[in-house]
Amino acid sequence: MLSHLLHLEGIESVVLESRSRAYVRERVRAGVLEQGVVELMRETGIGDRVSRQGIRMRGIDFRFGGEPHLVEFSAASGGRYAMVWPQHELVEDLANARLAAGGEIVYESPVASLEGLEAKPVIHHGKNQLQCDFVAGCDGFHGICRGAIPRSVLKEHDHPFPFGWLGVLAEAPPAWPDITWGCHPGEFAMMSMRTPTMTRLYLQCPPDDDAANWSDDRIWSELHQRLELPDGTTLNEGRIVQKGVAAMRSYVAEPMRYGRLFLAGDAAHIVPPTGAKGLNSAMADVRVLARALAEHYKRGNDALLEQYSDTALRRMWLVERFATWLCTNVHRFPDTDAFTRRLQLAELQYMAGTETGRRSFAENFTGLPVEV
Ligand code: DHB
Repeated sequence: MLSHLLHLEGIESVVLESRSRAYVRERVRAGVLEQGVVELMRETGIGDRVSRQGIRMRGIDFRFGGEPHLVEFSAASGGRYAMVWPQHELVEDLANARLAAGGEIVYESPVASLEGLEAKPVIHHGKNQLQCDFVAGCDGFHGICRGAIPRSVLKEHDHPFPFGWLGVLAEAPPAWPDITWGCHPGEFAMMSMRTPTMTRLYLQCPPDDDAANWSDDRIWSELHQRLELPDGTTLNEGRIVQKGVAAMRSYVAEPMRYGRLFLAGDAAHIVPPTGAKGLNSAMADVRVLARALAEHYKRGNDALLEQYSDTALRRMWLVERFATWLCTNVHRFPDTDAFTRRLQLAELQYMAGTETGRRSFAENFTGLPVEV
């Protein structure tokens, strides 16, 4: 997206991608876009497919206390929305736009090292070197860019959770029209979707669990138990085509800049998946960065580049607050006492059962402004 935005400003860039195009195209990852991301796609000419094939979310159906509690975004927040559009489809939209515009994406080209970040950056990738004015570190939590910032400069805030999610992709139409969160007293589960015929499901599990411990029978029986209500409607089953365990953490590295290296997205910050903020936060970062780079090239003004880290982090800490708060209140912790569990339920009741709670949830879920 950064490369696409820079191109629209007349700024040249090269995307170095460690994986193959086929891998990127097929790997199922996140799936929910904030309204602002959908609008950005439409404004920048890559919104056709999401407009035609994306699933507009009505809201989220929270299940606790034996009842459904639908938080409807539009009603709660004056018409706002979010869309289900799989991340790998968005990446495909972007890759097609870049390639059609003559942009350069170098696949299967892992970066070995970075040098000269203070003044004249050089990126070593494969047998090649790339000299550039700026490096955007959009290489994820395990990428090398964050590690190129000296330890003495970087401050890390790390908050791991004592559980993970087993993510499951099944060939089955979603059973209910809304993404459904099972917040019963046991462990958490979620029914989401990717397309009208593909259900995406999540089950709370130990952080170091192995997907091999989860047979199809065990997955379905736990999902039925964790998601369903006494009214007898049942989850649709189908062939399981992917499953994997992800541990969870909240994490922020500050600052998001060192010399001519600017971090964006997971390279600088991780959210737990509750709230679907990972991809959306990366999009917010690159919008700020694209604007700042445009100011540099068009007007020779570096004020926005100087402010990039502060601007991006101000929003990011609000997003960390939301994702961490949700994560803390919908899961069962191994060691919580009965009082804390009642407080978790009260948080959910306030969120879904009051106008203020619903509004706050809907505003955060559908996306805060890029600059807050
Ligand atoms: C997904 C959906 C959510 O509402 C969420 O909070 C996290 C993940 C998903 O579909 O992947």
